[in-house]
Amino acid sequence: MTIDGETGAHPNEGDRAPAPHSGASTHDEPLLRLRGLSKRFGAVQALNEVDLDIAAGQVTALVGDNGAGKSTLIKTISGIWPPDGGEVRWKGEPVHVRTPKDAAALGIATVYQDLALCDNLDIVSNMFLGHEDLRRRLLDESRMELTAKQTLADLSVTTVRSIRQVVGSLSGGQRQSVAVARAVMSDARLVILDEPTAALGVSQTALVLELIRRLADRGIAVLVVSHNLTDVFAVADRLAVLYLGGMVGTGPISDYDTQGAVELITTGSYSRRYQAATGPSNNDLKG
Ligand SMILES: Nc1ncnc2c1ncn2[C@@H]1O[C@H](COP(=O)(O)OP(=O)(O)O)[C@@H](O)[C@H]1O
Ligand SMILES: [Mg+2]
Repeated sequence: MTIDGETGAHPNEGDRAPAPHSGASTHDEPLLRLRGLSKRFGAVQALNEVDLDIAAGQVTALVGDNGAGKSTLIKTISGIWPPDGGEVRWKGEPVHVRTPKDAAALGIATVYQDLALCDNLDIVSNMFLGHEDLRRRLLDESRMELTAKQTLADLSVTTVRSIRQVVGSLSGGQRQSVAVARAVMSDARLVILDEPTAALGVSQTALVLELIRRLADRGIAVLVVSHNLTDVFAVADRLAVLYLGGMVGTGPISDYDTQGAVELITTGSYSRRYQAATGPSNNDLKG
């Protein structure tokens, strides 16, 4: 990962006057700011000049139809697909996230849909999978067990019988909780979740939504991809709608209703224009 020495505001930064020291982190800078992010796969423009701000302590729901570019966007943020163009700022600093390691170093942790858990291993072992540095620092099993226990307790994950239970015996919601706990254990500042409730029933979904809310309440930025608008309206602070690779709406969740969100998702535009009562924000509903 490299941090650019470049200064100067991006032309798409809205109406704000360029900051005098635009390279410096200011408190009105979101944790993560994407500007003009593009990614092409052959003939497919998977992401087309995407702008998105993700703030600490907030849940941002990323929605869009199949093929809209949701997975590509989170994989780009996570360092799996470097973008073809555009700018990524972390705490106001331009960064290049080229590998998952770069993302992890910034504090970006992504929980993919398959969760990448090992069913035959217990909760503790799973939580330390891929955290080899942490594992080496902690050295012994009992300390790892304590750390795992503490992390789960901090997240109020109280439904697991024993942290020595094999993950294969857990419910869907518990598995998701273990994957999230693993993600936050290494000081994640941004947790990205791809369809965390897609395979879950009602009560397990509630468990995971509570967990998502708790992450945000602890000051973590959460970006959650979801197909389920009921979940989205239950948990999100902000909505971001992708349509054919373009960001067609971003704003506080209170600016949307289900019908409007469905319209944006399926047509890419909005027949009614909602104006935030709080004045100009990046609540730009293009279309
Ligand atoms: N690795 C890839 N190679 C080629 N095309 C891809 C690849 N990943 C995604 N795409 C294409 O990019 C577009 C966006 O896909 P994706 O990000 O998976 O959408 P979503 O997650 O919103 O369903 C689709 O047209 C998809 O076919
Ligand atoms: Mg996807």
